[in-house]
Order: sequence, then C-alpha cells, then structure tokens
Amino acid sequence: MKYSLTEDALQDLRTPCLVTSHKLAKSVARALGLSDLFARATEDFKDKSEQNLTLNLPGNIARLLIVGGADATLTADAFRKVALSAANSLLQLPVKQAVVALESTRAQGKSSDWKLRTLMHALSYNAYRYGKHKSKPPAAPALANVRLHVKTKKSVANAVKFGNALDAGLTFSRDLGNEPPNVCNPTYVLSEARKLGRHPKVKVSSLSEKKMAEANMGAFLAVSKGSDTPGHLIVIQYNGGKRGEAPIALVGKGITFDTGGISLKPPAAMDEMKFDMCGAATVLGATKAAIDAGLKINLVTIVAAAENMPSGGATRPGDIVTSSSGKTIEILNTDAEGRLVLCDALTHAQTFKPSTIIDVATLTGACIVALGSHASAVYANDDQLAQQLLAAGNESGDKAWQMPLWDEYQTSLKSNFADMANIGAGGAGSVTAACFLSRFVEGVNWAHMDVAGSAFLGGPRKGATGRPVPLLFTYLWDQANG
Ligand code: BES
Ligand code: MN
Ligand code: ZN
Repeated sequence: MKYSLTEDALQDLRTPCLVTSHKLAKSVARALGLSDLFARATEDFKDKSEQNLTLNLPGNIARLLIVGGADATLTADAFRKVALSAANSLLQLPVKQAVVALESTRAQGKSSDWKLRTLMHALSYNAYRYGKHKSKPPAAPALANVRLHVKTKKSVANAVKFGNALDAGLTFSRDLGNEPPNVCNPTYVLSEARKLGRHPKVKVSSLSEKKMAEANMGAFLAVSKGSDTPGHLIVIQYNGGKRGEAPIALVGKGITFDTGGISLKPPAAMDEMKFDMCGAATVLGATKAAIDAGLKINLVTIVAAAENMPSGGATRPGDIVTSSSGKTIEILNTDAEGRLVLCDALTHAQTFKPSTIIDVATLTGACIVALGSHASAVYANDDQLAQQLLAAGNESGDKAWQMPLWDEYQTSLKSNFADMANIGAGGAGSVTAACFLSRFVEGVNWAHMDVAGSAFLGGPRKGATGRPVPLLFTYLWDQANG
C-alpha cells in the first residue's frame, strides 16, 4: 500500500471511493447536489461502529464509504476498531485508489498524526495476503494507493513517511514468517537479510558455523548441529545516525523450524513451529522500516538463524556446552533451544557496544498461557526501557505487558553439573527463560520480548502477524525523533 496526503476540498475530489463519516459524507452529497439520493440511500443507516455503508454516486466521486460511528468522540481503542472496520470494508471494494477522510473523527487525547498512523496501520494490516504457494492465488484486494485527507499537510507531513515505512516492514516480516520451513531455512533468512544491504548506509555480514566455532559459540552450535542446514549468525548494521554514536541493538530468534530436537515435540500443530523465526522476521521488518524511513539512528540487528532438528548429530539431554561468554550450560531439554542460540547472539551484540539491546523471540509456550495473543511480554533490566517499549506498544496498538525479572526466579536454573541448566524447575516458564537470557547481558540496558503468543495466529486465521514490528518501529522512531 502506498500512502500520500491531500488537502483538496472533499467535494472537489476525483476518486473511485471517498471514505468518511456520515456527517462529512452528507455535506459532500449536499455540495454535489445529491442530497435526495443520499437521504434515500442512508435511510436505514445506523451510524454504529463497525457498521459501514457504501453508496454509488454519479460524478467525480464514484462511491462513498460511510464509516459508522465516525462522528462520535472515540477512545483510542474505539478509534482503532473503527479504522480496522473501515479498512476491511474498503478492501472489499474493486477500487485501486481511495481517499480516506477521517482526520476529523475525535480520538480522546490523540493527535492527527496518531489518527493517520492508526488508519494506515489498519489498512496495511488488513490488506496483507499471502498466496505465494497456491497454484491459483485468491484475488488480493485491488486497493494500492490511499490518499489521506487532512486540513493542513504541514503538521502531519511525517505521518505518511511512518505509514509507508511500517507497511514495507510489516509485509517483509509477515512474508518471511509465513514462508514454509522447507524454503525458509537459515540460508534463506540470510538471503532475505542481504536484501536490506542494498541501501548505501547498510552493511550485512554473517558468521558461518566455522566462525562461530572459533568464537566458542557452543550454545548456538548445540542447536544447529542437529540439522543438515547450517546455522548463520547474521549482522545488519545501519548507520543512519551520527558517526561513533552507540547503536541500538535488535536481536531476533530465527529458529526456522523447531521440532524440539531429541526432546521431540508432539505432532499436534507442530507445523506452527515454522513461525519460530518470527522474532528474527520482526527485528528484520523493524530494521527495514527504520531504513526506509531514513531514521537518524545507528542500528545493529542480529539474527540467530538455525534449525532445531533431531539427528545422529543432535544434542542430547544432559549434554553440557560452553557459551561464548564462558558460562557452561547443561542442556536438560533440547526444546529450550531459543535461549541457547540467543545467549551467544546477545554476547555477540555486546561487542558492538550498544546503548540498548532488545531481543525478540517466540521463546515459550508458557508466555501464551500467561498472556494469550493480545500482549507481547516485556522483560527488562532497566525500568525506563521497559516503560518506553510499553508506551510504544500503546501508541501503535501493538500492545505489550511487563513481566517480572526478579532474582527469586533465578534459582530455578540451578544445575548440579554446569553453571546453569537451560530450563527452569517449577512454573513461570516465560520468566525463567528471560532469567536465563539475563545472565548473558552485563552493563547495558536490555529488554527481552517473548512474542510466542503475538507473533502468529493459529486456527482459521493461521499466519504471521508481523508483531511486534509496529511497537519496535514506533520505539525506534521515538528514539530518532526525540
Ligand atoms: N518455540 C518454542 C516456544 C513456542 C511454543 C512458541 C508454542 C510458540 C508456540 C520454544 O522453543 C519451546 O519449545 N519452549 C519450550 C521450553 C520448555 C522446554 C522449557 C516450551 O515452551 O515448552
Ligand atoms: Mn523449542
Ligand atoms: Zn523454539
């Protein structure tokens, strides 16, 4: 989807579809001398949220899509609902272009900039289709260009930049997430990451298994050695900021398929473990958005891409490995593989002397038990960072919830044979996984996001959501724009 702004008076527009509130639609109809037609067509219109009405007009505005509830004063969440519903209705129409005039709908405590961002986000989210592997892909929405109607372009000039960049980042991330695991293996993730390197301010490199062995990344290699497809530790450096300024580091779990390894998973819904690289897909998507928007920040994005397979070469429960930090790990469950690839990735991230590290991972089933799919879990060793991420979540509607990272939980990682076990004894599986990661971060602000519930949906709407790309991009945008 491509977004732009227009200031033209509504009745002067030339468009296949004008999307607006009942009141504004009525005044447009009046200005065009179509009041009678409008009155007849809207006789039964209820003007309720999520109930929209399309009516055809003669003349330069071929259709009106009247958005129910858009003349009321809405809460932020209600505005988002109206935006998603308007997007859905619009995407069902056979139009390539439209004008969306909902800037004047009131959303409590929210600016025009926020309203425009929310409308674009809703359109981008609902327009996404993934039909690549169908011999007859279902018809995708015709809509490709949306002009957002505003009173004055000046005050909201940046919103469109945000919306277009988010659209590109979300699509990139969801495509990567949805790709089947026989295509999307660690080498494929690397080739997708390399596409970001076409930009002059971006450099993409990677550590092969041989290089990782030289760097003593025994934890990462304990996972990838069970697979015939070698793992890669991918590094993308975007230098949009000042020379020498400490970068923000994003780290993503990129398990392209998680069988559980020798601690094999049960068969039900195991196919969904192709989504176990969504942490990687979302840090790559947020990075793409940051690059597209030309954010004035330095960014290092690190992706731990590997496949967790059972084989004669696979790690056994009971094996002890040494991570690149020097700490030893007793692998009691080979299905707790995300933290193993991530601990070496976090150690590597620290060599770039970042100001902040944020890792994103579909790390635990326990996170889904705790939060379901509505919120991503946030853990942080710095409360300000946690607050910034939660705020970015609220702002973008890509919500997150803070979970505890207390010392009390650390004790459950005790091992009789190594510095720590890779699983916690007792409950709180998402917390103890975060505790494990925390041991590999020293002297730097760090947050971990467990997105096991939010990054993809199961059931009839099975697919990657691209979350938390909106949260991450909002956070990066706010860092760049103060
Ligand atoms: N990738 C899974 C977590 C997961 C499960 C994500 C379901 C999304 C949906 C992770 O590697 C895993 O298997 N975690 C184990 C950890 C346990 C062995 C301590 C889990 O959650 O069962
Ligand atoms: Mn696993
Ligand atoms: Zn996993």
